[in-house]
Amino acid sequence: MIMAAKLSLQLFGMLFFLISLLALTKPAMADEDDGIPADFNRSYFPEDFIFGTATSAYQIEGAANKSGRGASVWDTFAHQYPDRILDGSNGDVAVDFYNRYEEDIQYVKNMGFDAFRFSISWPRIIPSGRRSEGVNEEGIEFYNKVINEIIKYGLKPFATIFHWNTPQALEDKYGGFLSSNLVNDFRDYADLCFEKFGDRVKYWMTFNEPWSLSGFAYDDGLFAPGRCSSWVNRKCRAGNSATEPYIVAHHLLLAHAAAVQVYRKNYQATQGGKIGITLFTFWYEPLSNRSADIDAARTALDFMFGLWMDPLTYGHYPRTVRDLVGDRLLKFTKEESQLLRGSYDFLGLQYYTSYFAKPNATIDPNHIRYKTDSHVTETPYDYDGNPIGQQAYSPWFYIFPKGIRHLLNYTKDTYNDPVIYITENGVDNGNNESQSIGEALNDTFRIDYYRKHMWNALGSLKDYNVNIKGYFAWSYIDNYEWNIGYTSRFGLYYVDYKNNLTRYCKHSCDWFTRFLNLKSRTNNITQSTSKNSRKAGKFYIM
Ligand SMILES: *[C@@H]1O[C@H](CO)[C@@H](O)[C@H](O)[C@H]1NC(C)=O
Ligand SMILES: *[C@@H]1O[C@H](CO)[C@@H](O)[C@H](O)[C@H]1NC(C)=O
Ligand SMILES: *[C@@H]1O[C@H](CO)[C@@H](O)[C@H](O)[C@H]1NC(C)=O
Ligand SMILES: *[C@@H]1O[C@H](CO)[C@@H](O)[C@H](O)[C@H]1NC(C)=O
Ligand SMILES: *[C@@H]1O[C@H](CO)[C@@H](O)[C@H](O)[C@H]1NC(C)=O
Ligand SMILES: *[C@@H]1O[C@H](CO)[C@@H](O)[C@H](O)[C@H]1NC(C)=O
Ligand SMILES: *[C@@H]1O[C@H](CO)[C@@H](O)[C@H](O)[C@H]1NC(C)=O
Ligand SMILES: *[C@@H]1O[C@H](CO)[C@@H](O)[C@H](O)[C@H]1NC(C)=O
Ligand SMILES: *[C@@H]1O[C@H](CO)[C@@H](O)[C@H](O)[C@H]1NC(C)=O
Repeated sequence: MIMAAKLSLQLFGMLFFLISLLALTKPAMADEDDGIPADFNRSYFPEDFIFGTATSAYQIEGAANKSGRGASVWDTFAHQYPDRILDGSNGDVAVDFYNRYEEDIQYVKNMGFDAFRFSISWPRIIPSGRRSEGVNEEGIEFYNKVINEIIKYGLKPFATIFHWNTPQALEDKYGGFLSSNLVNDFRDYADLCFEKFGDRVKYWMTFNEPWSLSGFAYDDGLFAPGRCSSWVNRKCRAGNSATEPYIVAHHLLLAHAAAVQVYRKNYQATQGGKIGITLFTFWYEPLSNRSADIDAARTALDFMFGLWMDPLTYGHYPRTVRDLVGDRLLKFTKEESQLLRGSYDFLGLQYYTSYFAKPNATIDPNHIRYKTDSHVTETPYDYDGNPIGQQAYSPWFYIFPKGIRHLLNYTKDTYNDPVIYITENGVDNGNNESQSIGEALNDTFRIDYYRKHMWNALGSLKDYNVNIKGYFAWSYIDNYEWNIGYTSRFGLYYVDYKNNLTRYCKHSCDWFTRFLNLKSRTNNITQSTSKNSRKAGKFYIM
């Protein structure tokens, strides 16, 4: 019975291979030669590998003014400057996760995932941002219900403590992340999270994508609170793109270290969880094999990834960044440096896209900003004008699946082989109002993106022993994509924004269900021996 099933699957695989070969004889539609086996599924990964799906509070919860929640900088930004959001929208309602979390978590379970990543809204549990000024019990209650629901289904909760929604009250009081006051207020907020939820949450991430806050919010002025130099973006009313991104980065790092210290000192021994951070970086390919281009790619990585990873691992900023930024970069005291060094049990990596890098020596001294301090030109085009990959919907987004493997290899080599979870990876498409729902659910390109990226992540594990322990798809559901509002769809689940936010399983959702639930494709016997087949998967030769 097992043999027969296996044989027929093998035959199916061979047939698929032959069809693929035939397809190759036709022009265009490359990609069939990606070498990914037709039966690629979770059993190729180690048995304890965690598959999850990710979300964040402001993007999904809604219920902005409900149950005692305070305003965050995103409420203010989206309401005050609708012209800075592509469709003028905001997260007041978002996809109503606040009221529909039971249905949503059930869907995540149905797809076969092992974990659910969500973020806690700081102003929902501490409306003023300062713990000493009062805790909102209704907010605590909401996250208790969410966490219990996740656990009810045997899923592991992965909690992000901060996903960009700084309490507006702290922004008003002292300028939010521009002030070192933020460090203690964040530490106290994190402490509250550990105290209230740490009995059940065993995976904590302090910050989501600090680069996006430093870069998008204080250098480009695209994200709340929307600050930058006026020559960078005329819509910014205040800011300084040469200095503020570094001030914010510094406080982010110190706040992270302070929260980790509290967790390790007061909670870790009894609660037995792990704590880390999630970082977003592009991968950079040298534009050519010339050493200047290779150096430029490395410098670009230092500015986007090393800016965080070097302090977190070694206690200081990367040398390239120190040399190029000079006095505008803040300094760590000895104690701070010590606190930062080794301040993560695991690293969350969020990979989406890659660029080419080459040196750019000519920087106008009157127009200094974070983004050009690296003196690197980042371009999606090679010397012949070909893009590094197909473009997704988001303007910065080019699809380059090998990048995830390069990044994983590089992280292992450069930062002492950390435990890594891919905490986000995924692709968006534009919302098309004239498509039928049936058409919109057919997201073949998304399946293709996931297959290739998971295959490359697996390659880093098998060929290079990268210590990768899990993979989270962004996102479980279509949601509020910040400054491009609801025009972008990243979900495995489709949301019908015109009809009561009804959820529909996209083809990528069906695909994940098959990828994760071996049961749905095979029979009960195969399921009960899945332990063996997963182990066998480890010996698969790439
Ligand atoms: C929430 O309150 C703010 C003002 O405090 C208001 O501008 C906004 O429209 C309210 N949103 C909702 C969904 O009621
Ligand atoms: C660099 O690339 C060129 C053209 O692809 C090739 O001819 C040359 O051998 C390469 N040099 C090195 C050092 O790899
Ligand atoms: C070099 O950087 C400057 C910004 O300082 C930019 O305006 C210019 O386009 C860049 N040059 C190239 C060739 O990318
Ligand atoms: C991964 O790293 C190893 C060692 O540096 C290297 O041999 C391999 O080519 C790398 N693969 C990718 C895709 O970067
Ligand atoms: C939107 O969908 C319609 C209907 O399928 C299609 O004709 C049109 O090309 C799509 N627009 C874009 C920009 O993809
Ligand atoms: C889905 O779209 C792809 C092209 O992206 C097309 O080849 C396929 O036939 C479509 N499937 C369905 C069920 O419409
Ligand atoms: C909208 O959906 C919610 C959640 O499924 C449901 O409780 C509510 O009754 C629906 N409202 C309408 C008007 O259909
Ligand atoms: C597995 O076995 C159970 C009970 O023997 C049966 O009800 C179920 O339909 C089977 N599932 C599959 C996918 O064969
Ligand atoms: C999953 O992959 C394994 C190879 O590791 C294979 O033996 C098995 O048949 C696949 N299962 C499905 C349902 O495709």
